[in-house]
Parts: sequence; structure tokens; C-alpha cells
Amino acid sequence: MSYGFFDDKQREYVITRPDTPLPWINYLGCEAYFGIISNTAGGYSFYKDARLRRLTRYRYNNAPFDFGGRYIYMRDNDSGRFWSPSWEPTQDKIEKYSCRHGMGYSIIGSTFERIRAETLYFVPLGENLEIWQLVVTNEGKKPRRLSVFSSVEFCLWDAQDDSTNFQRNFSTGQVEIDRGVIYHKTEYRERRNHFAYFACSEKLAGYDTQRDVFLGAYRGWDRPAAVERGRSFNSEAHGWAPIGSHHVKLSLKPGETRRVIFVLGYHENPVSGKFDPPGSQTINKRSVKPTIAKYLKPAAVDAAFESLRAYWDRLLGLYQAKTPDRHANRMVNIWNAYQCMATFNMSRSASFYESGIGRGLGFRDSTQDLLGFVHMVPERARERVLDLAATQLESGGAYHQYQPLTKRGNNDVGSNFNDDPLWLIVGVAAYLKETGDWSILDVPVPYDNKPGSESLLYEHLGRSFRYTLDRLGPHGLPLIGRADWNDCLNLNCFSDTPGESFQTTTNKEGKVAESVFIAGLFVLAARELAEIAKRRGSTSEVQTYLKAAARMEETVLAQGWDGEWFLRAYDDSGRKVGSRECDEGKIFIEPQGFCVMAGVGLGDGRARKALDSVNKMLATPHGIILQQPAYSKYYLHLGEISSYPPGYKENAGIFCHNNPWVMIAETMLGNGDRAFDYYSRINPSAREKISRIHRCEPYVYAQMIAGRDAPTYGEAKNSWLTGTAAWNYFAITQSILGIRPTYEGLVVAPVVPGSWKGFTVSRVFQGVRYDIRVSRKGKGNSVKMTVDGRSVEGNLISRPTAGITSVAVQVTLS
Ligand code: BGC
Ligand code: NOJ
Repeated sequence: MSYGFFDDKQREYVITRPDTPLPWINYLGCEAYFGIISNTAGGYSFYKDARLRRLTRYRYNNAPFDFGGRYIYMRDNDSGRFWSPSWEPTQDKIEKYSCRHGMGYSIIGSTFERIRAETLYFVPLGENLEIWQLVVTNEGKKPRRLSVFSSVEFCLWDAQDDSTNFQRNFSTGQVEIDRGVIYHKTEYRERRNHFAYFACSEKLAGYDTQRDVFLGAYRGWDRPAAVERGRSFNSEAHGWAPIGSHHVKLSLKPGETRRVIFVLGYHENPVSGKFDPPGSQTINKRSVKPTIAKYLKPAAVDAAFESLRAYWDRLLGLYQAKTPDRHANRMVNIWNAYQCMATFNMSRSASFYESGIGRGLGFRDSTQDLLGFVHMVPERARERVLDLAATQLESGGAYHQYQPLTKRGNNDVGSNFNDDPLWLIVGVAAYLKETGDWSILDVPVPYDNKPGSESLLYEHLGRSFRYTLDRLGPHGLPLIGRADWNDCLNLNCFSDTPGESFQTTTNKEGKVAESVFIAGLFVLAARELAEIAKRRGSTSEVQTYLKAAARMEETVLAQGWDGEWFLRAYDDSGRKVGSRECDEGKIFIEPQGFCVMAGVGLGDGRARKALDSVNKMLATPHGIILQQPAYSKYYLHLGEISSYPPGYKENAGIFCHNNPWVMIAETMLGNGDRAFDYYSRINPSAREKISRIHRCEPYVYAQMIAGRDAPTYGEAKNSWLTGTAAWNYFAITQSILGIRPTYEGLVVAPVVPGSWKGFTVSRVFQGVRYDIRVSRKGKGNSVKMTVDGRSVEGNLISRPTAGITSVAVQVTLS
């Protein structure tokens, strides 16, 4: 069963009942001001950094599950009945509930006793604020006298401190109320020069800013005292928990509709101009007032919403496909691309599963995410690449993550994840192929953000490459360090202390345990680097890179092959991991996918063998499992991977991130049927009909689907922020549909199911729109092509002559 439906025309998912199995969320904001919003208006907002500049409070892992939000209460002033149009927090029996999650906005509403109330939430482009536009309609035959109460609970900025340091925080909260606008200014009197504000378009009947006055002692958000009695208390917060709530009275004739606009925003003042008058303790509001005034006007809201829609039309218009599979179409054309932008903005920081406190922007995460968004926001991708590279260390290693606000490497997790540096090469190669912007390689970039340490970005890539070669183990394979892509395979950790972090604990020297996965990644990255070096004219380096790749390939074949599949690793005692010799964890997905992607074993049938083993041992109807058999107990020498109960997360869960590696590998062997079959098994839209089992949003990928060893087999978790988004997008657009950017031009190399009669793709590449029509004449993958009516050899569309901005391509597959 499902909880809603896709409205593909509007690019919305429409949820038709509020009690989804889990909160189904969406993102607001595309630049600096962001929010998450659930289908019942739960969620929170922040400026740039979900940890350091959190505007509103959210209670993770609460009961009910999703709590803290952008709640509006309605009240009938004659009957005294009140309700929340978004269902939460009052959970009344509302009718015609719907939540439309769209591109950068959500519209949540319902009808209660003939009052329709619907709120549009979005962040205007270029602004650090969000708009809530409430539209109320009297659908009955009698005039109605209503009250509207808004509500937000302010977070005292640092979300970590806010949820732990109560002895201080209960005494620091401060607000100002000025002409109906509520300003949250905790710590503004000392070192902060930023504040939040919450404004309303209508004349107020009252307001509240102290939580426990608004709610009343011992009450929750489902029954605020102010709402129940129908009148605000005009409270002013001094310490405790500052909130913002406006009270507006509305009288509606039958059929009448009114809009009420609320604006919640973030503003910074120059340090020298914080107060007005200078020397006072009052916020200087001169520069913020015009912005507030602007967005309290309906016309400005309409215009901003139009621009937002146009922005997404443009981004999504850059790659549009029409295939025989509606689930693929929907993901490619709308939701998967949209999710890639969410991972661009958030990396792994803020979702319903990521608390916004712990993880900042991941080095390997964001470099891989590039694959999914570089074609949509190339300029911002450029900035991201340079920011990431600036956190690289002189050794070539990398901080595992950095804070988006400061752009500094985050020491909480540190470095020594030995795959991290190689992903920079993969990401930069993708950037270059997409944009042709070779100038990026000549940008001086520091190490560890230290001024004076700069070298060209190109040199950073060389250090990434050497980092691996400087760290080879006894079999000539790369040492794994703290961990590789699977940050739960902790071969140097040996932790027997409860609560100790698997991510940061290293109890062994790390000179023995090796990763076949990194070896595969190295071969791929070294070959990418050779291509880059070739185009820079660095011939001797080309040889170095290619030789090292070839040597590593030989090593993998000699030391990393288990007979029917690639080994996963050698542990600290030199024992095999991911081998038929193991009792558990005999075969892992990662080296199969990645070694084949790197071209290892293509020549001698081992690639085929490895992928057939995956099909036999790891593939399930819900997707491909990470490893089998699951670890049934904790293994000191393997670390976190064995800490999860069988079937969950990295212990034999279906980790959706690496499924596309196998899809891509299958396309390299020409197997479009299998590649697309794997694609469809984890496609969230295709799983919509089993929402009761899948439980997560049907419009975005989740990091994990529980594997067959789990009691809840097929249940998804950790939706939204996962490398799954970029890799699936890459797999379907570039490998299966096979339209891919290269240094020479756009290549058309589809490897699609034999049953497909054809498909079309319209794709903008370096300013030129390519309309590509593929039709099938035979079962194979060979391509015959005409470009603007002229037949060309091979499958490369070279760049058209200057001035030409659209090209028509006809392709026959046989
Ligand atoms: C999770 C990983 C995650 C890691 C980093 C682990 O517990 O299983 O998926 O990447 O923590 O925090
Ligand atoms: C999630 C992390 O964000 C990612 O970096 C890692 O590769 C996967 N977990 C697999 O362990």
C-alpha cells in the first residue's frame, strides 16, 4: 500500500495521510539558509551549518517521533475548538489532509469543520529567510471568527550545546519584540552578531516568546494554554526557552479566503553596528527591516515562489529522459537529481537521521556527491572541489570531514581513512569532463587551510596518488588505515571498551591490514589521473600513473582474487577477509563492483565471474547485500561492521550506495538487463507500492535497506543523505542510458534492457543541448549514429562549431 502518489507534472510527491510510517521529509533552501520539513510540519532551520547556526529547535528521537517544527494552530473563537492543519501537534481528526513535497517547497494542509487551511513553506532564492504562507478558506455557509497562532521554538544557536548545557542555557535566552516582529537575540549582547526574527503580515492580537507561558505549566505542544484560551500572554523570554508565537484574528465570510504570511529569518550585522542606538543593548534593525517588510507582501511572495520554480525547471531541464520505465523517468528527471542537490547542500549533516551535529561535510562523501550534481551547478562544484582540497593534508591524506561554516577540517574524526584522498581524483575528473574547465587545476590551494602551504590543485591530485603508494602492505596492496569506504571495517581498531568510537580508535600500528577495495579504487583513480596528465602534456607523469595502475592491477589479480570473486581485505594478522576460507563474510560487494569498474579482470573472465558470484550470493529482490554470510557475533579484529545485528547497516544490509557500482560493472560487460534489474530493485519509486515494508520516503533513496538476515528484511533507513543518490544517478544516466561527458565530447553508449524499444534523452553539455533519440533494431549494444543528419563513426559526438547550441542525434542500437 502507499501513503500518497507522485504528481510528476508538478514535480511533487503528494502524501495523503499524515501517519506515514516514518516522517517523510523535504528540504527547504538551496544556498545558505536551509531547513528540513516533515509531512506534518516537523523539522528545523539553520544558516549554513546545522550544528553551529541552528535557528530552531528539534527533538530527535522523540516520542512522537518527529517533534519540533513550524506549527500553526487554528481556533474557532465561537466554539473554542482548536486544531493543527498539519495534524501535528494536536493530532485531530482533520479531513482532506495533504502534504505536497515539491522542489524546495512543501505545502501542508487540511480541512477541519469546513475551514481549509494550507501552508506553503519555502526559502526565496538569495535570502536567508523562510516564508510560511498560510491560506485559510471558509468552505462553510456561516461566517466564522477564527484565531491563528504561529509557533517556533528557538535553538540557542549551537545545537550541541543547546541540547546539553542547561545550567548555562536556561539563563541566557533573550528576545526583543518590536512592532509585532519577534527577534531572537540570545548571546547577541556578547560575541554573536547574528539574530533570528519571526514576523507576521497581519495586525497582531498578541504574541508569546516564553515557551512555558505559551504552553502553560506541565502542558505540551498539543494543548498550548494560549491557544486553548484563545489569547496570547504577551510574554517576554528571560532565560529558559525563547519561542516565537503570533496571534492573529480572522473573520471569514462564507467562501472567503485570506492569506497570512509569516517570515522566519536569520540576519547578521557588522560587529561595529550591532546596536541601535550605539552603546545600547538594542539590536540594530535598520538593514533587516526592508527585507522583512518586503516578504510580508503577497506579491513578493508570489514572485519569489515563481523564481524558485523557474530555478528548479532550469536545473532539472539539464538532463531529461523518456524511457519505457516510468520509475526510472521520475527518478532521473525529478527526484534523484533533486536528491543529488540535497547531498550537495547537506553532505551527511542534517536529515531525519543525521542530527546536524556530528558529521559536517565528509571528504569522500562530498567528492562522490560531485558525480551527481556537477552538471547542475558547475560553478558551485568548483568551489566545493577547492574547499575540499584545502582540507587535504601535506601527506596527501585528508580530514575525514569539515565544518561548512568554517570550511576547516574537523578534528573530531581526524584522518587516516586511506581511501579518502583518491576520491578527490575521481571527483575532479568528473568535474573536468563535465565542464572542460582545466583552469581549476592551476588554482593554488593550501594544505590543511594553512596560508603559505599552497600548491596547484593538480599537485594535490599527485599527492593523493602518492599517499596510497607510500602506504602499501605486505601483499603490495594499499594499507587500509582507520578504514576505507566501508568505515565500519575497522581492521586496526581492536576495541573491547564499550562506547569507544570505532571511527577514531586505532590500537594497532596499521602496517599489515590491506584493502582490495582501495586497490581497485587506486587503479581507477590512477588511470583517471593519467588521462588528466596527458591533457596537460605531462608525458612522464602519464607513464608513472599508468605503470602504477598496471602494477596494482597485477597485484589485485595475484593477491586479491579468491577463485570466484575478489577478496575484500587482509586483516591485521594477514588473514583474508571476504574469502571462501572465512566462516562468515565470505564475499563482499565493494571489491566486485569497484575492481570491475576499474577494468580489473575484464580481459580474462574474472570480472564476469565476480559479478556472477554477486548475483548468486548477494542479490536479493530488495537489492544487493553488502556481504554474506552476515557476521553473527562481534569480531574484535573486524570492528564496527560486526557490531551491527545481522542484516543491518554494514553487516549484511543492502547498502544502496554500492549497488550502482555493480550496475555500472554490469554495463561494462554489456549486460543491460541485469544492470537495469538491479537499478529497479532499489528504485524508491518502484518500491512505493511496498511502502509498508520499505517505510521510508518513496521519492528518495535511503542509505540502507535491511538485508535478508534482518527480521525487518526490506525496511529502509537513513533516507536522503547518502552517496546512493549520486551513484545511482551516475549509473542510470551515464552507464545504463549511457550518455556521458568525456574530455573529447559527449559519448552515447547505452546498455539498456533488451526489451526496450528505445528512449530519448535531452541533455545540456557545455552549453549545447543534445536531443538524443535511441531506437533498438537488435538486442545488442552497438551504436550507429547520425548527428544533425550526418552519420558519424563510433559513438562520440564531438563539440559542434561555435555558435551552435542544439544538436539532434539519432542512434540505432543493434
Ligand atoms: C555507520 C556508517 C557511518 C559511520 C560514520 C557508522 O556507525 O554505520 O554508515 O558512515 O557510522 O559516523
Ligand atoms: C556512510 C558514510 O557517510 C560513508 O562515508 C561510508 O562510505 C559509508 N557509510 C559506508 O560505510
